[in-house]
Amino acid sequence: MSVLEIVTLPAPILRQKAQPVTKFDENLQKLIDDMIETMREAHGVGLAAPQVNVPLRLAVIESLPKVDEEGNEIEDSRELFVIVNPEIVWKSRKMVDGIEGCLSIPGYLGEVSRHEAIRVRALDRHGKKISLRLQGWTARIFQHEIDHLDGVLYIDKLTAPENFWTEEAFAEAEAAAAETAES
Ligand code: NI
Repeated sequence: MSVLEIVTLPAPILRQKAQPVTKFDENLQKLIDDMIETMREAHGVGLAAPQVNVPLRLAVIESLPKVDEEGNEIEDSRELFVIVNPEIVWKSRKMVDGIEGCLSIPGYLGEVSRHEAIRVRALDRHGKKISLRLQGWTARIFQHEIDHLDGVLYIDKLTAPENFWTEEAFAEAEAAAAETAES
């Protein structure tokens, strides 16, 4: 396995519609393994093929770890998904606002409204049909990654243009809010 280079804005591939995967061969398996390694190395929760300069409808996603009653992370509780040619076939009417970043837009964060739950049909890494029902943060990550396959980025969907920050500005605002809450 090897770590791939993650392309960042303004790379044109990030704005193009990716093509369906048709061959589930050795090259695809290697690409998927490399994408998983690249995502983990970058401490990301998702990575779409266009982000490693491959114009295919493919993404890898790793859910956030589950926490126990005391708020400690449960070991090995992250779930890894490989989705090929995914389609969102159902979306909840309920929307939720949340903060997103993107490995292709390093150093920034923005607030985006997403469907609270979705249903996704896709193929797994061997071309077998899968159907997933997703909720909360995992549903958010899926929506973000599937958008990448259509050249759509989270910055296109901000809840308001001003709800976009550098990581530093966001951390400062958070700290200030925490202080206000304490005093
Ligand atoms: Ni992204």
